[in-house]
Amino acid sequence: AAPAIASAQGQDYPNRPVTMVIPFAAGGPTDVLGRIVAQRLGEVLGQQVVVENVGGAGGGNGSQRVANAAPDGYTMVLGTVGTHAQNQTLYKRPLYNAEGDFTPVALLADVPIVLVIRKDLPVSNYKEFVAYAKANAGKMTFASAGAGSASHLACVVFNTAAGLPVTHVPYRGTGPAMQDLQGGRVDYLCDMISTAKPQIDGGAVKPIAILTKDRSKALPNLSSATEEGTQVEAYTWNAIFLPKGAPKPIVDKLNAALVETMKTPWVQERLASLGAVVVSPDRMTPDYLAKFVKSEIEKWAAPIKASGVQVE
Ligand code: MLT
Repeated sequence: AAPAIASAQGQDYPNRPVTMVIPFAAGGPTDVLGRIVAQRLGEVLGQQVVVENVGGAGGGNGSQRVANAAPDGYTMVLGTVGTHAQNQTLYKRPLYNAEGDFTPVALLADVPIVLVIRKDLPVSNYKEFVAYAKANAGKMTFASAGAGSASHLACVVFNTAAGLPVTHVPYRGTGPAMQDLQGGRVDYLCDMISTAKPQIDGGAVKPIAILTKDRSKALPNLSSATEEGTQVEAYTWNAIFLPKGAPKPIVDKLNAALVETMKTPWVQERLASLGAVVVSPDRMTPDYLAKFVKSEIEKWAAPIKASGVQVE
């Protein structure tokens, strides 16, 4: 009985590799942030953190897999505003209950969203883009990481605010969506700044506006849609969840390791260069994340209902 007691109290946790499910394709923003965190978290925990990409259903498939896993601390998911708030309203029958089916561990970062367009679209600023999109609405497409993902809802609320009825093309993550944007197969994408910025800097795509109210230090010259006269606010965040019923000693140990991970200078520098904002320590507690998920579900319900978009 001794080992069972030790593991329920978390004394020997972790004594084997831990899996971090990224509920989107490799190369996207959740994957990029997750791999940075996983590398350092593995050092802090003294056990490898294995990243597993499980895409589909706007992040719902990977999150559902973790909801159904054993709550022993060895399987976690890197959730987002999409997987743990927005999809709860967007889906008529959500794949899981974001509050009841998980144990919140730690909110890690806030990440702005940027509207980027294919580089051969014949517009060069926000006003030209909106005029062009209105004139060509029936022909235009926007890509996303799937129904219910942050990239999807960011473009949905933007399209609603700007009055653009545009066709949605879902992918398993914004990594593959960005590839098709670069290939000119879709017209625009509301991507996280962390993966959009390198492509903007390299000239592979054109930035149109940041969808947070304020500008980002990582792209200081890019105006916000709000500044341009379209009242919209879209962003994502990343947070770690275990399945429901995870023992408190394990949650506390994993939380402390994540706090340590996010304090690490190279982690902070790397994330800052990508435009992701590490949250303050008072927002990194499990209790904060539980309340935050609840308030984010409530906050997004009205704009999603107002958009008229729903997944049956
Ligand atoms: C999203 O919500 O759009 C995802 O985080 C994008 C991704 O990681 O592929």
